[in-house]
Amino acid sequence: MLKGSVYIETFGCQMNIADTERATSRLRAAGYGISAEAETADVILFNTCSVRARAEQKVFNRIGEIRKGQGVSEPIIGIMGCVAQLEGETLFENGTGVRIVAGTRATDRLPDLIERALDGEKHVLDLGERLEDEQWDVPVVGRHSPYVAYIPIIEGCNKFCTYCIVPFSRGREQSRPAAEIIDEIKRLRGEGYQEVQLIGQNVNSYRPRTEVGLEGFSGATPFSKLLRAAAATKMPRIKFTTSFPRDFHPDIVSAMDEHENLCDWVHLPVQSGSDRILRAMRRGYRVSDYLSRIDTIKNAKRRYALTSDIIVGFPGETLEDFEATLRLIEYCRYDALYIFKYSERPGTPAAVLENNVSDNEKMTRFLELEKLQRDIQKKIYEDFVGREVSVLVERKSAKSDSDMSGHTTCNKVVNFPCREDLKGEIISVRVNEAKANSLYGEIV
Ligand code: SAH
Ligand code: SF4
Ligand code: F3S
Repeated sequence: MLKGSVYIETFGCQMNIADTERATSRLRAAGYGISAEAETADVILFNTCSVRARAEQKVFNRIGEIRKGQGVSEPIIGIMGCVAQLEGETLFENGTGVRIVAGTRATDRLPDLIERALDGEKHVLDLGERLEDEQWDVPVVGRHSPYVAYIPIIEGCNKFCTYCIVPFSRGREQSRPAAEIIDEIKRLRGEGYQEVQLIGQNVNSYRPRTEVGLEGFSGATPFSKLLRAAAATKMPRIKFTTSFPRDFHPDIVSAMDEHENLCDWVHLPVQSGSDRILRAMRRGYRVSDYLSRIDTIKNAKRRYALTSDIIVGFPGETLEDFEATLRLIEYCRYDALYIFKYSERPGTPAAVLENNVSDNEKMTRFLELEKLQRDIQKKIYEDFVGREVSVLVERKSAKSDSDMSGHTTCNKVVNFPCREDLKGEIISVRVNEAKANSLYGEIV
Protein backbone atom coordinates (compact mmCIF):
# COMPACT_ATOMS: atom_id res chain seq x y z
CA MET A 1 0.00 0.00 0.00
CA LEU A 2 1.17 3.54 -0.72
CA LYS A 3 2.24 5.46 2.35
CA GLY A 4 0.79 8.68 0.93
CA SER A 5 1.28 10.97 -2.00
CA VAL A 6 3.84 13.73 -2.26
CA TYR A 7 3.85 16.75 -4.54
CA ILE A 8 7.08 18.70 -5.03
CA GLU A 9 7.19 22.19 -6.49
CA THR A 10 10.64 23.33 -7.57
CA PHE A 11 12.12 26.85 -7.67
CA GLY A 12 15.66 27.95 -8.46
CA CYS A 13 18.51 26.50 -10.47
CA GLN A 14 19.19 23.14 -12.17
CA MET A 15 20.71 21.91 -8.94
CA ASN A 16 17.29 22.16 -7.34
CA ILE A 17 15.69 20.35 -10.28
CA ALA A 18 18.28 17.59 -9.86
CA ASP A 19 17.60 17.46 -6.10
CA THR A 20 13.87 17.16 -6.74
CA GLU A 21 14.55 14.23 -9.09
CA ARG A 22 16.72 12.65 -6.44
CA ALA A 23 14.05 13.22 -3.76
CA THR A 24 11.37 11.78 -6.03
CA SER A 25 13.44 8.64 -6.59
CA ARG A 26 14.05 8.18 -2.86
CA LEU A 27 10.38 8.71 -2.04
CA ARG A 28 9.16 6.26 -4.68
CA ALA A 29 11.62 3.64 -3.46
CA ALA A 30 10.29 4.14 0.09
CA GLY A 31 6.70 3.51 -1.01
CA TYR A 32 5.34 7.01 -1.51
CA GLY A 33 3.31 8.03 -4.53
CA ILE A 34 4.33 11.14 -6.45
CA SER A 35 1.44 13.45 -7.21
CA ALA A 36 1.34 15.68 -10.28
CA GLU A 37 -0.73 18.34 -8.56
CA ALA A 38 -0.88 19.95 -5.14
CA GLU A 39 -4.65 19.54 -4.68
CA THR A 40 -4.61 15.76 -4.27
CA ALA A 41 -1.37 15.39 -2.32
CA ASP A 42 -1.00 14.42 1.35
CA VAL A 43 2.36 16.17 1.51
CA ILE A 44 3.41 19.29 -0.37
CA LEU A 45 7.11 20.09 -0.54
CA PHE A 46 8.61 23.31 -1.84
CA ASN A 47 12.17 23.07 -3.08
CA THR A 48 13.28 26.63 -2.59
CA CYS A 49 15.77 29.20 -3.88
CA SER A 50 17.30 32.05 -1.92
CA VAL A 51 19.64 33.67 -4.43
CA ARG A 52 17.68 36.93 -4.60
CA ALA A 53 15.02 38.35 -2.28
CA ARG A 54 12.35 37.94 -4.95
CA ALA A 55 13.08 34.23 -5.43
CA GLU A 56 12.70 33.74 -1.70
CA GLN A 57 9.42 35.66 -1.51
CA LYS A 58 7.87 33.45 -4.18
CA VAL A 59 7.65 30.40 -1.94
CA PHE A 60 5.88 32.25 0.86
CA ASN A 61 3.32 33.54 -1.62
CA ARG A 62 2.78 29.98 -2.87
CA ILE A 63 2.30 28.58 0.64
CA GLY A 64 -0.33 31.27 1.25
CA GLU A 65 -2.13 30.35 -1.97
CA ILE A 66 -2.08 26.62 -1.22
CA ARG A 67 -3.38 27.06 2.33
CA LYS A 68 -6.19 29.33 1.19
CA GLY A 69 -7.33 26.77 -1.41
CA GLN A 70 -7.35 23.89 1.09
CA GLY A 71 -10.47 22.46 2.72
CA VAL A 72 -10.73 20.42 5.93
CA SER A 73 -7.97 17.93 5.13
CA GLU A 74 -4.87 20.04 5.42
CA PRO A 75 -1.83 18.61 3.67
CA ILE A 76 1.55 18.52 5.40
CA ILE A 77 3.64 21.38 4.09
CA GLY A 78 7.41 21.08 3.95
CA ILE A 79 10.24 23.34 2.82
CA MET A 80 13.44 21.95 1.35
CA GLY A 81 16.34 23.54 -0.52
CA CYS A 82 18.23 26.77 0.03
CA VAL A 83 15.62 28.73 2.03
CA ALA A 84 15.20 25.72 4.35
CA GLN A 85 18.95 25.48 4.96
CA LEU A 86 19.28 29.20 5.69
CA GLU A 87 16.16 29.88 7.72
CA GLY A 88 15.90 26.57 9.60
CA GLU A 89 13.39 26.39 12.42
CA THR A 90 12.25 30.01 12.06
CA LEU A 91 10.17 28.66 9.15
CA PHE A 92 7.89 26.94 11.70
CA GLU A 93 7.03 30.30 13.27
CA ASN A 94 4.49 32.96 12.38
CA GLY A 95 1.62 30.68 11.49
CA THR A 96 3.12 29.48 8.21
CA GLY A 97 1.77 25.98 8.90
CA VAL A 98 5.11 24.51 7.79
CA ARG A 99 5.72 21.09 9.37
CA ILE A 100 8.93 19.89 7.69
CA VAL A 101 12.17 21.82 7.10
CA ALA A 102 14.78 19.81 5.21
CA GLY A 103 18.10 21.44 4.32
CA THR A 104 20.04 21.09 1.07
CA ARG A 105 21.83 17.92 2.23
CA ALA A 106 18.83 16.17 3.75
CA THR A 107 17.30 15.09 0.43
CA ASP A 108 18.05 11.41 0.95
CA ARG A 109 16.41 11.41 4.39
CA LEU A 110 13.12 12.89 3.18
CA PRO A 111 11.18 9.59 3.39
CA ASP A 112 11.94 9.37 7.13
CA LEU A 113 11.22 13.04 7.73
CA ILE A 114 7.84 12.73 6.04
CA GLU A 115 7.05 9.57 7.97
CA ARG A 116 7.72 11.39 11.25
CA ALA A 117 5.39 14.20 10.22
CA LEU A 118 2.68 11.72 9.19
CA ASP A 119 3.10 10.02 12.58
CA GLY A 120 2.18 13.31 14.23
CA GLU A 121 5.49 14.99 15.01
CA LYS A 122 4.60 18.67 14.84
CA HIS A 123 7.86 20.15 13.57
CA VAL A 124 10.43 18.02 11.78
CA LEU A 125 13.81 19.67 11.20
CA ASP A 126 16.91 18.33 9.43
CA LEU A 127 19.78 20.63 8.48
CA GLY A 128 22.41 17.91 8.72
CA GLU A 129 25.16 16.81 6.35
CA ARG A 130 24.79 13.96 3.89
CA LEU A 131 25.67 10.60 5.38
CA GLU A 132 28.86 9.11 3.99
CA ASP A 133 27.24 6.07 2.36
CA GLU A 134 24.36 7.97 0.76
CA GLN A 135 26.67 10.40 -0.95
CA TRP A 136 25.70 10.29 -4.62
CA ASP A 137 24.70 6.93 -5.93
CA VAL A 138 20.95 7.29 -6.19
CA PRO A 139 19.51 5.72 -9.32
CA VAL A 140 17.32 8.54 -10.56
CA VAL A 141 13.89 7.58 -11.87
CA GLY A 142 11.47 10.13 -13.26
CA ARG A 143 13.74 12.83 -14.58
CA HIS A 144 12.41 16.15 -15.84
CA SER A 145 12.92 15.00 -19.44
CA PRO A 146 13.32 11.59 -21.12
CA TYR A 147 15.99 13.00 -23.44
CA VAL A 148 17.98 15.57 -21.43
CA ALA A 149 19.44 14.66 -18.04
CA TYR A 150 21.06 16.87 -15.41
CA ILE A 151 24.05 15.28 -13.73
CA PRO A 152 25.42 17.06 -10.65
CA ILE A 153 29.22 16.72 -10.64
CA ILE A 154 30.06 19.18 -7.86
CA GLU A 155 27.90 20.59 -5.10
CA GLY A 156 28.37 23.65 -2.92
CA CYS A 157 30.69 26.60 -3.35
CA ASN A 158 33.93 27.79 -1.72
CA LYS A 159 34.20 31.10 -3.54
CA PHE A 160 32.28 33.39 -1.18
CA CYS A 161 31.63 36.21 -3.62
CA THR A 162 30.60 39.02 -1.28
CA TYR A 163 27.01 39.32 -2.55
CA CYS A 164 26.17 35.62 -2.72
CA ILE A 165 24.20 33.37 -0.38
CA VAL A 166 25.01 30.08 -2.14
CA PRO A 167 28.11 29.14 -0.07
CA PHE A 168 25.89 29.44 3.02
CA SER A 169 22.93 27.52 1.63
CA ARG A 170 24.89 24.83 -0.19
CA GLY A 171 27.99 24.46 1.97
CA ARG A 172 31.50 23.60 0.82
CA GLU A 173 32.42 22.20 -2.58
CA GLN A 174 32.14 18.42 -2.82
CA SER A 175 33.01 16.71 -6.06
CA ARG A 176 31.34 13.52 -7.11
CA PRO A 177 33.58 10.55 -7.94
CA ALA A 178 34.39 10.54 -11.67
CA ALA A 179 33.74 6.83 -12.15
CA GLU A 180 30.18 7.30 -10.92
CA ILE A 181 29.57 10.21 -13.27
CA ILE A 182 30.86 8.26 -16.25
CA ASP A 183 28.77 5.21 -15.27
CA GLU A 184 25.69 7.39 -15.06
CA ILE A 185 26.31 8.87 -18.51
CA LYS A 186 26.75 5.36 -19.95
CA ARG A 187 23.56 4.19 -18.28
CA LEU A 188 21.65 7.19 -19.63
CA ARG A 189 23.04 6.52 -23.08
CA GLY A 190 21.65 2.98 -22.79
CA GLU A 191 18.25 4.40 -21.82
CA GLY A 192 18.17 6.53 -24.96
CA TYR A 193 19.13 9.90 -23.52
CA GLN A 194 20.49 12.26 -26.17
CA GLU A 195 21.92 14.98 -23.96
CA VAL A 196 23.46 15.31 -20.52
CA GLN A 197 24.22 18.54 -18.74
CA LEU A 198 26.98 18.34 -16.16
CA ILE A 199 25.89 20.78 -13.50
CA GLY A 200 27.33 22.52 -10.46
CA GLN A 201 27.70 26.02 -9.03
CA ASN A 202 31.19 25.93 -10.57
CA VAL A 203 31.70 22.81 -12.67
CA ASN A 204 35.25 23.66 -13.61
CA SER A 205 36.30 23.72 -9.95
CA TYR A 206 35.70 19.95 -10.09
CA ARG A 207 38.27 18.21 -7.90
CA PRO A 208 37.38 14.67 -6.80
CA ARG A 209 39.30 12.94 -3.99
CA THR A 210 40.72 10.36 -6.37
CA GLU A 211 41.07 10.26 -10.13
CA VAL A 212 39.67 6.74 -10.45
CA GLY A 213 37.70 6.77 -13.68
CA LEU A 214 39.92 9.44 -15.25
CA GLU A 215 42.96 7.21 -15.88
CA GLY A 216 44.08 7.32 -19.46
CA PHE A 217 42.53 10.71 -20.12
CA SER A 218 44.97 13.54 -20.48
CA GLY A 219 44.03 17.00 -19.34
CA ALA A 220 45.32 19.95 -17.41
CA THR A 221 42.69 19.77 -14.69
CA PRO A 222 40.37 17.02 -13.38
CA PHE A 223 37.51 18.85 -15.10
CA SER A 224 39.06 18.76 -18.56
CA LYS A 225 39.88 15.07 -18.00
CA LEU A 226 36.29 14.49 -16.99
CA LEU A 227 35.09 16.21 -20.17
CA ARG A 228 37.27 13.91 -22.27
CA ALA A 229 36.08 10.84 -20.37
CA ALA A 230 32.47 11.98 -20.81
CA ALA A 231 33.03 12.54 -24.53
CA ALA A 232 34.37 8.98 -24.84
CA THR A 233 30.99 7.56 -23.73
CA LYS A 234 29.62 8.70 -27.12
CA MET A 235 26.68 10.45 -25.47
CA PRO A 236 25.53 12.57 -28.46
CA ARG A 237 25.47 15.89 -26.59
CA ILE A 238 27.31 16.94 -23.48
CA LYS A 239 26.79 20.43 -22.05
CA PHE A 240 28.10 21.84 -18.78
CA THR A 241 27.18 24.78 -16.60
CA THR A 242 28.20 27.00 -14.73
CA SER A 243 31.89 27.71 -15.33
CA PHE A 244 33.76 29.98 -12.93
CA PRO A 245 35.96 32.43 -14.88
CA ARG A 246 39.02 32.22 -12.62
CA ASP A 247 39.17 28.42 -12.99
CA PHE A 248 38.43 28.40 -16.71
CA HIS A 249 41.59 26.66 -17.92
CA PRO A 250 42.28 26.97 -21.69
CA ASP A 251 42.49 23.17 -21.76
CA ILE A 252 38.69 23.09 -21.46
CA VAL A 253 38.55 24.71 -24.89
CA SER A 254 41.12 22.21 -26.21
CA ALA A 255 38.93 19.34 -24.99
CA MET A 256 35.89 20.90 -26.67
CA ASP A 257 37.84 21.38 -29.90
CA GLU A 258 38.81 17.69 -29.82
CA HIS A 259 35.32 16.28 -29.29
CA GLU A 260 32.30 17.29 -31.29
CA ASN A 261 29.89 15.89 -28.67
CA LEU A 262 31.19 18.45 -26.17
CA CYS A 263 28.66 21.07 -27.20
CA ASP A 264 29.49 24.51 -28.57
CA TRP A 265 28.30 26.59 -25.62
CA VAL A 266 30.05 28.16 -22.61
CA HIS A 267 28.26 29.97 -19.78
CA LEU A 268 30.90 32.16 -18.13
CA PRO A 269 29.31 34.71 -15.78
CA VAL A 270 31.40 37.88 -15.53
CA GLN A 271 29.12 39.91 -13.15
CA SER A 272 30.77 43.28 -13.92
CA GLY A 273 33.12 44.93 -16.38
CA SER A 274 34.79 47.10 -13.73
CA ASP A 275 37.91 45.95 -11.86
CA ARG A 276 36.91 48.02 -8.85
CA ILE A 277 33.55 46.25 -8.58
CA LEU A 278 35.01 42.80 -9.32
CA ARG A 279 37.40 43.37 -6.42
CA ALA A 280 34.54 44.45 -4.13
CA MET A 281 32.62 41.35 -5.22
CA ARG A 282 35.76 39.26 -4.48
CA ARG A 283 35.43 37.42 -7.77
CA GLY A 284 39.14 36.59 -7.93
CA TYR A 285 39.82 37.88 -11.45
CA ARG A 286 40.31 41.16 -13.28
CA VAL A 287 38.59 42.23 -16.48
CA SER A 288 41.79 41.50 -18.43
CA ASP A 289 41.93 37.92 -17.05
CA TYR A 290 38.34 37.38 -18.06
CA LEU A 291 38.85 38.79 -21.53
CA SER A 292 41.87 36.57 -22.15
CA ARG A 293 39.60 33.56 -21.50
CA ILE A 294 37.02 35.01 -23.87
CA ASP A 295 39.73 35.42 -26.51
CA THR A 296 40.74 31.77 -26.12
CA ILE A 297 37.12 30.77 -26.68
CA LYS A 298 36.72 33.10 -29.65
CA ASN A 299 39.93 31.83 -31.25
CA ALA A 300 38.95 28.18 -30.94
CA LYS A 301 38.41 25.82 -33.87
CA ARG A 302 34.62 26.05 -33.72
CA ARG A 303 32.36 28.99 -32.90
CA TYR A 304 31.26 28.59 -29.31
CA ALA A 305 28.11 30.34 -28.11
CA LEU A 306 28.88 32.45 -25.07
CA THR A 307 26.47 33.45 -22.32
CA SER A 308 26.94 35.37 -19.08
CA ASP A 309 25.39 36.89 -15.95
CA ILE A 310 25.61 40.52 -14.85
CA ILE A 311 24.69 42.15 -11.56
CA VAL A 312 23.76 45.83 -11.85
CA GLY A 313 23.75 48.19 -8.89
CA PHE A 314 26.24 46.42 -6.64
CA PRO A 315 26.99 48.73 -3.64
CA GLY A 316 29.26 51.53 -4.80
CA GLU A 317 28.76 50.89 -8.55
CA THR A 318 29.27 54.27 -10.21
CA LEU A 319 28.24 55.33 -13.69
CA GLU A 320 31.85 54.79 -14.82
CA ASP A 321 31.77 51.24 -13.47
CA PHE A 322 28.52 50.61 -15.27
CA GLU A 323 29.90 52.04 -18.51
CA ALA A 324 32.83 49.65 -18.21
CA THR A 325 30.28 46.83 -18.07
CA LEU A 326 28.61 48.15 -21.24
CA ARG A 327 32.00 48.16 -22.99
CA LEU A 328 32.70 44.60 -21.87
CA ILE A 329 29.34 43.46 -23.23
CA GLU A 330 30.11 45.12 -26.55
CA TYR A 331 33.43 43.31 -26.67
CA CYS A 332 32.19 39.85 -25.66
CA ARG A 333 29.04 39.86 -27.80
CA TYR A 334 27.19 37.22 -25.81
CA ASP A 335 24.55 34.95 -27.35
CA ALA A 336 22.46 35.53 -24.22
CA LEU A 337 22.85 37.57 -21.06
CA TYR A 338 21.10 37.18 -17.72
CA ILE A 339 20.92 40.54 -15.98
CA PHE A 340 20.10 40.82 -12.27
CA LYS A 341 19.54 43.83 -10.06
CA TYR A 342 21.71 43.53 -6.97
CA SER A 343 19.69 42.04 -4.14
CA GLU A 344 21.02 42.34 -0.60
CA ARG A 345 21.29 38.92 1.07
CA PRO A 346 21.38 39.02 4.88
CA GLY A 347 24.58 37.54 6.30
CA THR A 348 26.72 38.06 3.20
CA PRO A 349 29.74 40.40 3.41
CA ALA A 350 28.17 42.85 0.92
CA ALA A 351 25.10 43.24 3.12
CA VAL A 352 27.03 45.52 5.48
CA LEU A 353 27.98 47.83 2.60
CA GLU A 354 25.65 50.70 1.92
CA ASN A 355 23.19 49.53 -0.74
CA ASN A 356 23.52 52.94 -2.33
CA VAL A 357 22.38 52.58 -5.91
CA SER A 358 18.70 53.53 -5.86
CA ASP A 359 16.06 51.13 -7.19
CA ASN A 360 15.34 53.62 -9.94
CA GLU A 361 18.96 53.77 -10.97
CA LYS A 362 19.24 49.97 -10.90
CA MET A 363 16.25 49.79 -13.20
CA THR A 364 17.73 52.40 -15.57
CA ARG A 365 20.98 50.46 -15.80
CA PHE A 366 19.13 47.18 -16.19
CA LEU A 367 17.11 48.55 -19.12
CA GLU A 368 20.12 50.11 -20.82
CA LEU A 369 22.05 46.87 -20.61
CA GLU A 370 19.05 44.92 -21.80
CA LYS A 371 18.72 47.17 -24.84
CA LEU A 372 22.40 46.84 -25.73
CA GLN A 373 22.15 43.05 -25.41
CA ARG A 374 18.99 42.96 -27.51
CA ASP A 375 20.81 44.71 -30.40
CA ILE A 376 23.84 42.44 -30.15
CA GLN A 377 21.72 39.31 -29.87
CA LYS A 378 19.59 40.30 -32.86
CA LYS A 379 22.66 40.29 -35.12
CA ILE A 380 23.92 36.99 -33.72
CA TYR A 381 20.53 35.35 -34.21
CA GLU A 382 20.14 36.82 -37.72
CA ASP A 383 23.46 35.23 -38.67
CA PHE A 384 21.78 31.86 -38.20
CA VAL A 385 19.20 32.52 -40.91
CA GLY A 386 19.87 30.27 -43.92
CA ARG A 387 22.03 27.91 -41.87
CA GLU A 388 21.31 24.33 -40.85
CA VAL A 389 21.39 23.54 -37.16
CA SER A 390 21.16 20.27 -35.27
CA VAL A 391 18.14 20.23 -32.98
CA LEU A 392 16.96 17.79 -30.32
CA VAL A 393 13.17 17.56 -30.64
CA GLU A 394 12.01 18.03 -27.05
CA ARG A 395 8.42 19.20 -26.72
CA LYS A 396 5.43 20.84 -28.36
CA SER A 397 6.00 24.52 -29.01
CA ALA A 398 4.16 26.77 -26.58
CA LYS A 399 2.89 28.95 -29.41
CA SER A 400 1.56 26.54 -32.03
CA ASP A 401 0.07 23.07 -31.90
CA SER A 402 1.65 21.97 -35.15
CA ASP A 403 5.16 23.09 -34.11
CA MET A 404 7.72 21.33 -32.01
CA SER A 405 10.49 22.94 -30.00
CA GLY A 406 14.03 21.97 -29.08
CA HIS A 407 17.56 23.19 -28.47
CA THR A 408 20.60 23.44 -30.71
CA THR A 409 23.97 22.17 -29.52
CA CYS A 410 24.74 25.85 -28.78
CA ASN A 411 21.67 25.89 -26.51
CA LYS A 412 19.39 28.10 -28.61
CA VAL A 413 15.67 27.40 -28.75
CA VAL A 414 14.39 26.45 -32.21
CA ASN A 415 10.73 26.02 -33.22
CA PHE A 416 9.67 24.23 -36.42
CA PRO A 417 6.65 22.45 -37.94
CA CYS A 418 7.08 18.81 -36.98
CA ARG A 419 5.24 15.58 -36.18
CA GLU A 420 5.06 14.75 -32.51
CA ASP A 421 6.50 11.27 -32.98
CA LEU A 422 9.93 12.73 -33.77
CA LYS A 423 10.27 13.62 -30.07
CA GLY A 424 13.65 12.56 -28.76
CA GLU A 425 15.31 12.57 -32.20
CA ILE A 426 18.18 14.80 -33.22
CA ILE A 427 17.28 16.36 -36.56
CA SER A 428 18.59 18.99 -38.94
CA VAL A 429 16.63 22.25 -39.19
CA ARG A 430 17.17 25.05 -41.68
CA VAL A 431 16.67 28.40 -39.94
CA ASN A 432 14.51 30.87 -41.84
CA GLU A 433 13.63 33.40 -39.18
CA ALA A 434 15.36 34.97 -36.17
CA LYS A 435 13.25 36.07 -33.21
CA ALA A 436 14.50 37.88 -30.11
CA ASN A 437 15.23 34.74 -28.09
CA SER A 438 14.59 31.88 -30.48
CA LEU A 439 14.97 30.71 -34.06
CA TYR A 440 12.30 29.45 -36.44
CA GLY A 441 12.91 26.99 -39.23
CA GLU A 442 11.95 23.83 -41.07
CA ILE A 443 13.23 20.28 -41.07
CA VAL A 444 15.72 19.60 -43.83
N1 SAH B 1 28.29 30.11 -9.49
C1 SAH B 1 27.85 30.96 -10.52
C2 SAH B 1 26.57 31.69 -10.21
C3 SAH B 1 25.48 31.07 -9.44
S1 SAH B 1 24.19 32.17 -8.91
C4 SAH B 1 28.95 31.99 -10.78
O1 SAH B 1 29.68 32.34 -9.89
O2 SAH B 1 29.02 32.46 -11.87
C5 SAH B 1 23.51 32.71 -10.47
C6 SAH B 1 23.60 34.19 -10.69
O3 SAH B 1 22.76 34.90 -9.79
C7 SAH B 1 24.97 34.80 -10.47
O4 SAH B 1 25.81 34.62 -11.57
C8 SAH B 1 24.65 36.25 -10.23
O5 SAH B 1 24.65 36.99 -11.43
C9 SAH B 1 23.25 36.20 -9.65
N2 SAH B 1 23.27 36.56 -8.23
C10 SAH B 1 23.80 35.86 -7.21
N3 SAH B 1 23.63 36.53 -6.04
C11 SAH B 1 22.98 37.68 -6.33
C12 SAH B 1 22.52 38.79 -5.56
N4 SAH B 1 22.72 38.86 -4.25
N5 SAH B 1 21.87 39.79 -6.22
C13 SAH B 1 21.67 39.74 -7.55
N6 SAH B 1 22.09 38.73 -8.32
C14 SAH B 1 22.74 37.70 -7.73
FE1 SF4 C 1 27.89 32.52 -5.58
FE2 SF4 C 1 30.31 33.29 -6.31
FE3 SF4 C 1 29.85 30.75 -5.58
FE4 SF4 C 1 28.91 31.69 -7.87
S1 SF4 C 1 31.06 31.49 -7.32
S2 SF4 C 1 27.80 30.46 -6.39
S3 SF4 C 1 28.38 33.78 -7.38
S4 SF4 C 1 29.74 32.56 -4.26
FE1 F3S D 1 18.85 29.30 -5.77
FE2 F3S D 1 20.06 27.62 -4.17
FE3 F3S D 1 20.26 27.33 -6.79
S1 F3S D 1 19.90 29.78 -3.86
S2 F3S D 1 20.12 29.42 -7.53
S3 F3S D 1 18.43 27.14 -5.61
S4 F3S D 1 21.86 26.95 -5.29
